[in-house]
Amino acid sequence: MTETVPCLPKDLLDLDDYSPGQLDLVLDLAESFKEISRRTIKKVPTLRGKLVVLFFHENSTRTRLSFEVAAKRLSADTIALSASGSSLAKGESLLDTARNIAAMAPDALVIRHGASGVPGFLARRLDFPVLNAGDGAHAHPTQALLDMLTLREAKGGLKGLKVAVIGDIAHSRVARSNMIGLTKMGARVAVAGPPSMLVPDLAETYGVEVFTRPEPALEGADAVIMLRIQLERQSGTLFPGAREYARVYGLDHERLKLAKPDVVIMHPGPVNQGVEMTPEIYEDPRSLILPQVTNGVAVRMALLHLLIERPATPADS
Ligand code: CP
Repeated sequence: MTETVPCLPKDLLDLDDYSPGQLDLVLDLAESFKEISRRTIKKVPTLRGKLVVLFFHENSTRTRLSFEVAAKRLSADTIALSASGSSLAKGESLLDTARNIAAMAPDALVIRHGASGVPGFLARRLDFPVLNAGDGAHAHPTQALLDMLTLREAKGGLKGLKVAVIGDIAHSRVARSNMIGLTKMGARVAVAGPPSMLVPDLAETYGVEVFTRPEPALEGADAVIMLRIQLERQSGTLFPGAREYARVYGLDHERLKLAKPDVVIMHPGPVNQGVEMTPEIYEDPRSLILPQVTNGVAVRMALLHLLIERPATPADS
């Protein structure tokens, strides 16, 4: 019997739209694309003649660069737009900006925005794929996918892994997308953070274990994802200070002893060194923080390929 390849939805807004089979499809293709980045000529003609618009309304280093590298590795053309360099700064609305982008016939729009829901708002109005590169505290699906690829490579699979996610859960789009994606793939997720950085009903909504101290989350963990303290998304002072946060929630070698000896350490970046983790943890041989960035290119190549080359379905009209 031939197995049907699951088609992806038109847009990538968050991982709750994806089945485990669709997540595997992206991860398997990303794994095969990694080889292209190791070649002398790091380019294939897969998306030649296609145009990808990178619209970053909020700062980014890793996501913006890796989407651009991914598009270029597949031979797509890219144009980049930022809030300050566009006519948004002159008062043009986001929708008008998007309509003007659409008038130039792009094949995909990659958007990061500080407000939750903007990628979804645009996706409903544009007839080409919209890829969410991070929206407010809502979702960061490509980060979760690259985290899943990194974990799968390190551990041989995701099912049954215990993954500790520690830090500012309430304001973290990375935590949200990872809770959805990892639990879908059969991992056990334990989140921990100060009570002021947790939201009610996390356990019921996402099927995760919730702790107000990092130790029980780290106990027997196969992997730990440390989150950035997101000062720009906090409405008030949620913890007494960086030193106090580092003392109670930061990852150091003493605390890491609670996890399995072969635990892997991850962080989406940018890292506040000395706050979320000590510099020694960042440099630890079990740290996969830079391999995560490498995998980000492969995951975004896979997504651009799958969404741009995706056959239209009746659900699109
Ligand atoms: N992980 C992440 O989203 O990093 P950037 O903000 O640098 O893109």
